Amino acid sequence: MTTLPQSIEAPGIDWQGAKVLVRSDLNVPLDGGRITDDARIAASVPTIKALLDRGAAVAVCSHLGRPKGERKPELSLAPCAERLSQLIGRPVELLNDCVGDAVAARVASLQPGDVVMLENLRYHAEEEKNDPAFARQLAQGFDAYVNDAFGAAHRAHASTEGVAHLLPSRAGLLLGREVEVMSGLLSNPGRPFVAVLGGSKVSDKLPLIEKLLERCDRILVGGAMCFTFLAAMGDSVGNSLHEGPEGQEMARGLMDTAVRLNCMLQLPTDVLVADNFHEDSAVKVLPSDAIPDGWMGVDIGPRTSAAYRDVIERAKTVFWNGPMGAFEIPPFAEGTRSVADAMASSDAVTVVGGGDSGAAVAEFGLADRFTHVSTGGGASLEMMEGKTLPGVAALPKGD
Ligand code: 3PG
Repeated sequence: MTTLPQSIEAPGIDWQGAKVLVRSDLNVPLDGGRITDDARIAASVPTIKALLDRGAAVAVCSHLGRPKGERKPELSLAPCAERLSQLIGRPVELLNDCVGDAVAARVASLQPGDVVMLENLRYHAEEEKNDPAFARQLAQGFDAYVNDAFGAAHRAHASTEGVAHLLPSRAGLLLGREVEVMSGLLSNPGRPFVAVLGGSKVSDKLPLIEKLLERCDRILVGGAMCFTFLAAMGDSVGNSLHEGPEGQEMARGLMDTAVRLNCMLQLPTDVLVADNFHEDSAVKVLPSDAIPDGWMGVDIGPRTSAAYRDVIERAKTVFWNGPMGAFEIPPFAEGTRSVADAMASSDAVTVVGGGDSGAAVAEFGLADRFTHVSTGGGASLEMMEGKTLPGVAALPKGD
């Protein structure tokens, strides 16, 4: 079992009067400068408030997008500073950079209760290189470092890994909770343990599926990846998105492993097909093993939805990653909605692994009815694959 990192509640750091560098993951979706989903900012608030309540001054840092070492104004953290200020009810001053003399001077003048935000870390290429000199610049003037950026914990960057070796460090409340929930799934899940898996490619999720086959009692497959499995069994998948011989070979290997490990890999028995990939396409429901040319699978069908709901209702633990269909197009969203509803109504431990399924749950307004919706897509997948996250490994361990 993963040992949990020490949290801000652990003894050893006197927060009163401390200047604390907090790494959050404020990498939110933007539409022309407008934040379209502020879940990650909201999730970073409890740690910031807890530090302020303990008498600290806080400098929040984050990346936004992938500016690759260039100062791209459209990727400024300004909208995030404004939203954070609304959420915590006090001013959040955005500094012009994340390192340099002006930043050092402002950090030196911080008073307990102050909150500033450093500008996008990835305006500096050294951040992603985990450059030691850049990490030292980031740490300059601070008394402690708190990593709350679970969504970026799979990246060994200066602000997620390097700086943790330079300052007394702790896990923020969000990162601590994410690691605790994911390690619980890995070490001691209530059974039956069911995984619901979607997404486009088997090859993209191979290590995850292999790990889930070892741990779960059953895996319910949806999304475009189900057509690779169906094609691998010789079924006709029409124009559905699916992988070629290599992906199908992987799918066959996974089906063999499932039999060997006694994990049921359940595929759709019916699918919703469309003659095109937009809202006004003609649609019909067909058996999943007979999709003619000219039609493509865009969602699981109603019989499959009912069967998957039934399995979810009887599970004690459900982990979900990847939508069942192209849910962003309303007529193709039913299968994804049905899985989300079944998980939301269940008494089981229900965990959503971030990414597109996290976005679906938020869109359906069901997020608060899950045990946990991860803020980290890539990070939660890597944890479920059994990998060590560098941002977590760099923090001191608890007992
Ligand atoms: C994410 O959105 O998954 C995290 O913020 C990490 O972003 P990255 O994939 O650009 O490193």
